[in-house]
Amino acid sequence: MKIVSLFSGAGGLDLGLIQAGSEVIWANDIDKDAVATYSKNLSNHIVCADIKDVAIADIPMADAIVGGFPCQGFSQANLLRTVDDERNHLYKFFYGAVDSKQPKFFIAENVRGILSLDGGNAIKRIVKDFENAGYIVTVTLVNVADYGVPQSRQRVFIVGQRKDLGNAMCFCFPAKTHGKNGLPLPWVSIKTALNCYPDPDKSNEYINHIYSSYKVEFRNFTGHRATDPDKPSPTILARGNGKGGVCAIPHYNGKRRLTIRESAAIQTFPDNFEFIGQMNSCYRQIGNAVPVRFAKLLGQELARLERDML
Ligand SMILES: C[S@@+](CC[C@H](N)C(=O)[O-])C[C@H]1O[C@@H](n2cnc3c(N)ncnc32)[C@H](O)[C@@H]1O
Repeated sequence: MKIVSLFSGAGGLDLGLIQAGSEVIWANDIDKDAVATYSKNLSNHIVCADIKDVAIADIPMADAIVGGFPCQGFSQANLLRTVDDERNHLYKFFYGAVDSKQPKFFIAENVRGILSLDGGNAIKRIVKDFENAGYIVTVTLVNVADYGVPQSRQRVFIVGQRKDLGNAMCFCFPAKTHGKNGLPLPWVSIKTALNCYPDPDKSNEYINHIYSSYKVEFRNFTGHRATDPDKPSPTILARGNGKGGVCAIPHYNGKRRLTIRESAAIQTFPDNFEFIGQMNSCYRQIGNAVPVRFAKLLGQELARLERDML
């Protein structure tokens, strides 16, 4: 399928879709480091710009529009009016692109918190907006550990399928492949995922295998808990050391933070995927990403539908 990618970041979602056979024909992000990373590893079809400066007419037609629109605009709980509210311009742009281009499918990723904004009314309004634009919409909360990603990370996927495609055509959300109780397969632990990486203080064999000196202290809150080697990693974060930097997860050896490479491996980026920018920017790009392995499963479903449509 031909894909337009909005809020593409470093390209975790896009890489998974490409691995499954899709072609990303146009992408956009405001962050120059993320765009540099994307260009280096995926392709230079990405446009670096604030989405509000992009005319919808300049976005090509595509089979699917994908993206993780930031939802700051939804945080002002009771003042929500979704598409009518100027503060929601990032969501409005995503919605506007889908409404005007009418792709067969759209996939929007968001944080779990979107489900509880304004007491659950925000997500209801989002679904209604897309239904009014001509889509059958499903909202699914996933933990990517259930799909073989070595990380506990809950995210919401809003998937739309154009109504005129009919009932015979149905985007089926990928079935879980792993589980806490070992079924069908056991969750993948952080130790299994990171065992292969050498001590970053002794080896420079891997790109981006450097780590933040932010002190490891166990204060029992996010980013400051001991990491259990036998469980999936805690969520790889995009922000939050309290000083403007990103809070990398402590390594299970308890002595240091994960390296950029290790964080990327937890997000299932391949080892040759190079992140561009200062350390903090690299950690943020990784923390923002959709795990590549999970994105590939979504891409495989798009590929199946594409085959069925032929
Ligand atoms: C959650 S991240 C997307 C990550 C991406 N889907 C991936 O898998 O790597 C959201 C992205 O939206 C971008 N963004 C935020 N405001 C934007 C704006 N006004 N215009 C364009 N991009 C924006 C951020 O730079 C960030 O990379």
